[in-house]
Amino acid sequence: MNQLLSNKVGIVTGAARGIGNATARLFAKEGCRVAMIVRSINEKVTDTIEQIKADGGEVQAYVCDASSYEQVHTITEQVMKDFGRIDILVNNAGITKDNLLLRMTEEQWDNVINVNLKSAFNFIHAVSPHMMRQKSGSIISMSSVVGIYGNAGQANYAASKAGMIALTETTAKEFGSRGIRANAIAPGFILTDMTANLPQNTIDEFVKRIPMHRGGLPEEVANVALFLASDLSSYVSGQTIQVTGAM
Ligand code: NAI
Repeated sequence: MNQLLSNKVGIVTGAARGIGNATARLFAKEGCRVAMIVRSINEKVTDTIEQIKADGGEVQAYVCDASSYEQVHTITEQVMKDFGRIDILVNNAGITKDNLLLRMTEEQWDNVINVNLKSAFNFIHAVSPHMMRQKSGSIISMSSVVGIYGNAGQANYAASKAGMIALTETTAKEFGSRGIRANAIAPGFILTDMTANLPQNTIDEFVKRIPMHRGGLPEEVANVALFLASDLSSYVSGQTIQVTGAM
């Protein structure tokens, strides 16, 4: 069977659940050897590993706080030892700590910027020397439509996601000549644990504003990540693809 990611090694951060989990599973199905970056090894992580292996895939989980520069560099070297190369990086780990700007605490601001934005810098900084040596690589960062348009109550989150777009465009410019591509995905309203805790009326409001009249599935975002990770997108770099049902 022709697989889109055969012979490639991919790191997916925040792979324990949601969009990251769907991406890790899809990449493995397409022949990618997957390094799952997780906060802890829970049942969902163990299940994912078992299922990927049962389907003949290769996967390993690494416990790492993506916001820690030191941990990220150590884990990246471990991935290199275990897999021998790194072809794909998906910066997907993310959190929200919503509050109106004037009520936002310094801790809420720092937390979200560190986990969402600094983590992407950490991983790009750690993997790019290896990709440069290989003269190829695809870096994908999970931004958000909120990073393009802003959103009341999410100054920290929106700023972190806008930062990821600028980081992506800069990475594409700095590393383009070395065969490394960088792109961002800006999902709209996706049905995951992150959005499950929103009040029902907020969810209903979102869905009303989406021309396709439904939230997206994590797998629908993972499909776009697959395109960007694979050689199908070999001349696509510095772009942000919105996955929003036309919201
Ligand atoms: P989720 O909350 O289900 O998953 C996020 C993952 O990141 C979790 O597995 C969590 O353990 C991990 N994570 C959090 N902090 C971490 C850290 N310091 N180090 C390593 N891992 C960490 O969220 P979901 O919905 O799957 O979102 C994935 C990405 O997509 C996030 O970056 C999110 O901001 C973005 N996104 C999600 C949207 C949605 O509607 N669900 C819309 C737009 C963007």
